[in-house]
Amino acid sequence: MRNVRGIDTRTVTGQVRAESILSHNFPASGNFSHMTSVTSTRTTPLGRALLQRIGNTPLLRFERIVRGLEGVQILGKAEWANPGGSVKDRAAASIVAAAEREGRLAGRTLLDATSGNTGIAYAMLGAALGFPVTLCVPNNASPERKHILKAYGATVIWTDPAEGSDGAIRRARELAASEPEKYFYADQYSNDANWRAHYNTTAIEIWEQTERRITHFVATLGTSGTFMGVTRRLRELNPAVECISLQPDSPFHGLEGLKHMATAIVPKIYDPSLANRDLGVATEQAYEMVKRLAREEGVLVGISSGAALVGALRIARECAARSEPAVVVTILPDSADKYLSERFWDE
Ligand SMILES: Cc1ncc(COP(=O)(O)O)c(C=O)c1O
Repeated sequence: MRNVRGIDTRTVTGQVRAESILSHNFPASGNFSHMTSVTSTRTTPLGRALLQRIGNTPLLRFERIVRGLEGVQILGKAEWANPGGSVKDRAAASIVAAAEREGRLAGRTLLDATSGNTGIAYAMLGAALGFPVTLCVPNNASPERKHILKAYGATVIWTDPAEGSDGAIRRARELAASEPEKYFYADQYSNDANWRAHYNTTAIEIWEQTERRITHFVATLGTSGTFMGVTRRLRELNPAVECISLQPDSPFHGLEGLKHMATAIVPKIYDPSLANRDLGVATEQAYEMVKRLAREEGVLVGISSGAALVGALRIARECAARSEPAVVVTILPDSADKYLSERFWDE
């Protein structure tokens, strides 16, 4: 059975299981033919291949920040558990798998604009699967991100930080148009494989991990792939789940990876009508929350994760004020690892 968007919905009402994004598309292991067992002729590979580690991330429970709020829980998907260290492994793997299936990547260089995390995911996949990667990245990406991209061996074109992620998008479009034979332009902002990664995996994991008790889903908007994919699937599973999107509250912000939609190039995959509500988060509030989580919960999260928890806490407080029990789930896109050199830690 397919819905209007051509998505297979057969698994929606019954038992649903999240699958590895890549398990059906790439070999689950490397070439193990040189390792013949002395005790058995079986060649089933042991251990987990790198790509099998994408998805199935832990759901963390935050207890201290909800202290005093009766009947509400805040839970966050620890997306830094993905092998590339962020939620963007899911989207990148799904985009690469779709391009492989459609024969658009063979013999070409993968090209995209990214504020960092998608680039890291592409660079990791390119290294593991053997295709070249060129990335357009604003030059104010954190030093940690720059080092990681270099370590994976990706080619990086640095763009004007004043133009933000939009400058990187414009540069990638120019390159793709000038050499269409050389590049597969992945275009995460327009590529349906981006949100489908979350429709097929993240949403189902949340559904299972909350034992179907989720009442509110809160997530930040960058390409919007996470929010679009999870929201579409959760709505099918339980239309009563409230889905709240979060954006920076001003065009000039320090929420790396997020977009202020009113003033940015709006991603093609973004549909604002999907959200029940859309809230703005200030950079300072996100910094404060990142420090609180480190010091009160012992969890080191990235800045957009801080923003996500600011939004989740706002919803949890509203529910508690109405004496309404709630299971609020959010996405923690990455950890603090790439932001440890930021000044706000000392402020
Ligand atoms: C740190 C961080 N947070 C949040 C997001 C937003 O995720 P999405 O692009 O799925 O909206 C991104 C996207 O790159 C990111 O890098």
